[in-house]
Amino acid sequence: MLTKIKQTIDYIRQSINFDPEIGIVLGTGLGALADEIKVEKAIPYAEIPNFPVSTVQGHKGQLVFGYLGGKKVVAMQGRFHYYEGYTMQQVTFPIRVMKMLGIKLLILSNASGGMNTSFRVGDIMVIVDHINLFGTNPLIGQNIDELGPRFPEMSCAYDKKYIKLAFDIADECNIHLQQGVYIGVTGPTFETPSEYKFFGKIGADAVGMSTVPEVIVARHMGLPCFALSIITDMGITISGEVEKPTHEEVQKAANAAEPRMTTIIKKLIERI
Ligand code: HPA
Repeated sequence: MLTKIKQTIDYIRQSINFDPEIGIVLGTGLGALADEIKVEKAIPYAEIPNFPVSTVQGHKGQLVFGYLGGKKVVAMQGRFHYYEGYTMQQVTFPIRVMKMLGIKLLILSNASGGMNTSFRVGDIMVIVDHINLFGTNPLIGQNIDELGPRFPEMSCAYDKKYIKLAFDIADECNIHLQQGVYIGVTGPTFETPSEYKFFGKIGADAVGMSTVPEVIVARHMGLPCFALSIITDMGITISGEVEKPTHEEVQKAANAAEPRMTTIIKKLIERI
């Protein structure tokens, strides 16, 4: 694994002489942020040695290097999900590469279903903690001591400093922010009514199919993380009913929240 990471780093450094300070996983809700990056170079995943190969046709996966809010950033345009059939090591490989390129902060976004009945579709939730319910962990296997410890602690997976900053920015911009615990599951099925209820009961506010593996690998390497989630459907409504989420509905709610999410991340990066 370490050899692979070094190979990938060598290739990237030969392609571009650029030391990013911040890494961004452009998940749901942050697609438009890519347009705001003053691009120095974009490298398609297919050209990067050891990067997972995308099996989805027309999938625009690339690593974008450039400037955003006056900072040097590297952004993953397109992420890898466990439900697509990638291994946990493949899903998280780009995070390890970005850390080795020198990033000091990892920013991520995603879409999720809400269990907290004070949430509404279209809300943006700052992730303050997570529950890993993938049934596996990207760090299973021989530990890579050069990257981090065998038993990494996860007491502060999402950095409090950036959470506070996000709320300050949201206040100033009149953007309503929620906060809560994200539970990560494999998907690709949405939850049964009983699963939504169960996840709510065990302490989660929203459920989604990404982010947890990336954050685990980032924290293993001591990399601070900040993540936002768009509540695209309600697993449980106030009346106790369960909605029937569709991919289209998720997409629609995500598009509506995108400008707010973009504003927060852009301003956050400016202020770091
Ligand atoms: N469950 C899991 N993942 C999701 C959901 C959901 O309800 N909405 C968006 N991503």
